[in-house]
Amino acid sequence: MNIIVAADRNWGIGNQNSLLVQIPRDQKFFREMTTGKVVVMGRKTLESFPNGRPLKNRVNIVITGQKDYKVPDAIVLHSVEEALEYVKQYDTNDVFVIGGASIYEQMLPYCDVAHVTVMDYAYQADTWFPNLDKMDEFVVAADSEEKTYFDLEYCFKMYVRKSKLKEIIDFNKRYVKYLETESLKGYDVLLDIYEEGMTKDKYDKFFSLLKAEIVPLVKQIKEKNINKDPLFGKLFDVNKPDTFYEEV
Ligand SMILES: NC(=O)c1ccc[n+]([C@@H]2O[C@H](COP(=O)([O-])OP(=O)(O)OC[C@H]3O[C@@H](n4cnc5c(N)ncnc54)[C@H](OP(=O)(O)O)[C@@H]3O)[C@@H](O)[C@H]2O)c1
Repeated sequence: MNIIVAADRNWGIGNQNSLLVQIPRDQKFFREMTTGKVVVMGRKTLESFPNGRPLKNRVNIVITGQKDYKVPDAIVLHSVEEALEYVKQYDTNDVFVIGGASIYEQMLPYCDVAHVTVMDYAYQADTWFPNLDKMDEFVVAADSEEKTYFDLEYCFKMYVRKSKLKEIIDFNKRYVKYLETESLKGYDVLLDIYEEGMTKDKYDKFFSLLKAEIVPLVKQIKEKNINKDPLFGKLFDVNKPDTFYEEV
């Protein structure tokens, strides 16, 4: 299960039941990631949308404690447990928790991937997302170049639950073999991180390798048309693997 969120420098995500800022490219990214998928939200987030209407072309699940709450074109459930049970009928990679703060907090333990739009500004906020940089369980597995919207600098980051690094390692192992590449240095660093834990040095090294090795690797995978692999699909968007984050 995924989380998708836009957070400011202090992990602020909202103020007075509105978003802090609307960045068109971020909205496009959100649309592309969630269209045709399942979105899970709290009642207040639903009501923050234009006319309080569910999002088009998505299965909308709204969580509320109000037993008689009804919304056209949305599934209304009454607890996080009920929502977790309900989404079992879908591929977990197709489920996106879209907020707000209370739902993010309660559902984060069940999510392995968090797509975070990181905005380099401190807005006035009254709701926050848990600081993933301070959580040992999460590491950044991909990030974009810095982007700008007027004066605001922001970027896209994909945080992955550290225990999922094993899958990334298996992914590398498999494709090193398949692509007849001699070796991937990133694979060695990942293996090291997995076995011995993350340090700042390893983190920096992995990042430079990720950009140098994994992005071209993804391109090759696309050329060889093997991007239907289920593991691959879990970690990258199979429809646009070579544009991952950069072309959003
Ligand atoms: N930056 C972003 O990416 C982003 C994304 C989404 C939202 N936001 C912002 O986040 C803010 C809203 O967050 P929020 O925490 O105030 O509201 P929220 O999480 O959207 O909704 C809270 C409501 O959800 C229901 N709920 C939550 N946990 C429940 C549970 N365990 N069982 C039953 N119902 C439950 C309750 O509804 P009832 O009161 O009806 O019982 C509760 O009042 C807004 O400012 C919004 O703009 C930001």
